[in-house]
Amino acid sequence: MNACRFSFLLLLLAACHSEAPKPAAYGGWRTYGGSKDNIHYSALSQVDTSNVAQLEKVWEYHTLDGDSISQIQVNSIVIDSILYGVTPKLKLFALNAVTGEPKWVYDPAATAINACRGVAYYKSSDTDQRLFYTVGSFLYCVDAVKGVMIWKIDLHNDLGRDVKDLFVTSTTPGMVYKDMIIIGCRVAEEAAAAPGHIRAYDVHTGKLRWIFHTIPYPGEAGYESWKDTAAYKHIGGANSWSGFSLDEEKGVLFAPVGSASFDFYGGKRLGDGLFANCMLALDANTGRRIWHFQTVHHDIWDRDPPTPPVPVTVQKDGASVEAVVQTTKTGFIFLLDRKTGKPLYPVEERPVPTSGALPGEELSPTQPYSVGLPVFARQSLTEAGLNHLVPDTSVSEIERRLAGYKTGSLFTPPSKEGTVIFPGFDGAAEWGGPAFDPKTGLLYVNANEMPWILTMVDAAAAPKTDRSMTVGQAGKALYANNCMACHGEGRKGAGNYPSLIGVKKKYTTDQFMSLISSGRRMMPAFKQLSQGEKDALAAFILEQEAQQKKVFTAAPKVVDPYYQLPYGSTGYHKFLTKEGYPAVAPPWGTLTAIDLNKGVIVWKDTLGDYQEFKERGIHTGTENYGGPVVTAGGLVFIAATSDSKIRAFNKWTGRLLWEADLPACGFATPSVYEAGGRQFLVIACGGGKLKKKSGDSYVAFALGLKQ
Ligand code: HEC
Repeated sequence: MNACRFSFLLLLLAACHSEAPKPAAYGGWRTYGGSKDNIHYSALSQVDTSNVAQLEKVWEYHTLDGDSISQIQVNSIVIDSILYGVTPKLKLFALNAVTGEPKWVYDPAATAINACRGVAYYKSSDTDQRLFYTVGSFLYCVDAVKGVMIWKIDLHNDLGRDVKDLFVTSTTPGMVYKDMIIIGCRVAEEAAAAPGHIRAYDVHTGKLRWIFHTIPYPGEAGYESWKDTAAYKHIGGANSWSGFSLDEEKGVLFAPVGSASFDFYGGKRLGDGLFANCMLALDANTGRRIWHFQTVHHDIWDRDPPTPPVPVTVQKDGASVEAVVQTTKTGFIFLLDRKTGKPLYPVEERPVPTSGALPGEELSPTQPYSVGLPVFARQSLTEAGLNHLVPDTSVSEIERRLAGYKTGSLFTPPSKEGTVIFPGFDGAAEWGGPAFDPKTGLLYVNANEMPWILTMVDAAAAPKTDRSMTVGQAGKALYANNCMACHGEGRKGAGNYPSLIGVKKKYTTDQFMSLISSGRRMMPAFKQLSQGEKDALAAFILEQEAQQKKVFTAAPKVVDPYYQLPYGSTGYHKFLTKEGYPAVAPPWGTLTAIDLNKGVIVWKDTLGDYQEFKERGIHTGTENYGGPVVTAGGLVFIAATSDSKIRAFNKWTGRLLWEADLPACGFATPSVYEAGGRQFLVIACGGGKLKKKSGDSYVAFALGLKQ
């Protein structure tokens, strides 16, 4: 009997003799990320290193509701051979997981399109099966058998303050524990942001069961980490947007918490600011905090933990240790004891730059560096690290620009000259999350290596609106204050954000109003604007000439003084060459395998290609969104790249064994499951990021039937 079968028998025995929840068997894909511990692992081995090259596309499901900028970031789940996923317009659907034939489609008639990364599933009996996902600000509970809504609740409620005019949604599905759905949220990155408290709702009634204040109230632990005793009433953010993991046996929820708002200036939120930028362990029954670990103190760089900390078991000093692992936007890996939250490998509080901050800002003198484990991305950009694949004149240009920026440390403060953020706002690690192989102790993490430039500006210099203006002038000023950070000067688009030139052909005034009132995917809602201000924006952006000539009479809404900051940023800009390539030398995307038992990198590959460099024999990698999956068949599957491919690597060596073209980029994590005796690999092909064409389909691969 081989070792594998032997341990299978032991597992069976353990299951028969115990009432405790069974350890995750990793045979299916019933939860976002594969299993409740979210380790992206599949125990299936029908597809293995010897036959993976014979994988074929077996079905493609077109949702038929994509548009020119739509996306799908969903990691679909599969229950009893039914695959559940979400379309670009946030319709929820059920498919036969073997054939891709639709069973039902539920249409919430969404006007607010948020990024949606998946759904959560609950079952109490065959007739009571429920799915949960978020559309706009509403958490929906949908009957998984019939495809009809059971209830919905507005996530603006229960937050302990009036946030109805602020942006609240949820991108990553909640976690089902017992009869509760536990949910985090995405809120604005601006000063005017809702707090990101974590909440548990009753799956049957939608009633609030518990809340954990990520920005603590007086008397709660962590309250003293905010210098301003009233901060908890005004400051927002500290939201858990990148999903949870769960140790179901012990009833412990692991939650990542993002930075407090406003992202880039903390003068009105001085102090370390717990529980922003923390990994949290909460009692899943009550929401009580067990421990926390802060990965960045007083964050002013938007360094949210981009994925949940995931429970793993590692060998350390000859013993098995239950731990959680967190990969970060900065390229660090934090490995903590699961019970205590104490680092298993050394983490040093290192001195970081303390001068050069904007007036009113107080930088943390030290920051945690995970020094005992390898970093998986470059952490500093200097002249020697610039891109030399472009013509000399372009190299000189990026050298000149770099000389004008502040750079050098992960924690160089935001500045008016421009500060290099590297790794960038989208990592190193991003929301795809890592994969962990419980059999080998290897962790697989994909990373972006793209520098971004953060430039701060005086808010006083921002254009003002007043009643001597025309509606057109006011619209232009409002655009500069509210929209330009993303949509760029002259509405030309910037970074990952679309151009608004010519949108008058796409939107009626009503559609435009509903879009800016409810937000769309990475675009927040602008409920803080008065109707007159929105009218002026519409007149400007939709080029309504008659409207533009009228006199502007709208008064701005009265805003909380906490939201009036002395500084703003010019937005999210990548540091690119004239030709549009990253200003840093390749690799621009990587996949790294780290042995968590030994604390070493086992292999590292460049991930993805630009055709024009590939033809010159240069393997550059591309930015990537969506995570890997590791299988017992010896494979790591990943799409995520901007070259519209899905790939399989040998999990031990990193050798590329298979790749296939997708109809659009698969900016999502694949799902691996068995149905009808076959192993399937499914990936959402939504494109739409990194200026790539949008797609509207889910594609399934399996071994050909003749094998
Ligand atoms: C934080 C970044 C951000 C800000 C600020 C922002 N947007 Fe957007 N906007 C986006 C993104 C991202 C999209 C693409 C949405 C999607 O993926 O569906 C978008 C899409 C749009 C679209 C639709 C474009 C199309 O081609 O269909 C319009 C119109 C628009 N924004 C208007 C505005 C206006 C007006 C403002 C200011 C009041 C604004 N945006 C502020 C990020 C932003």
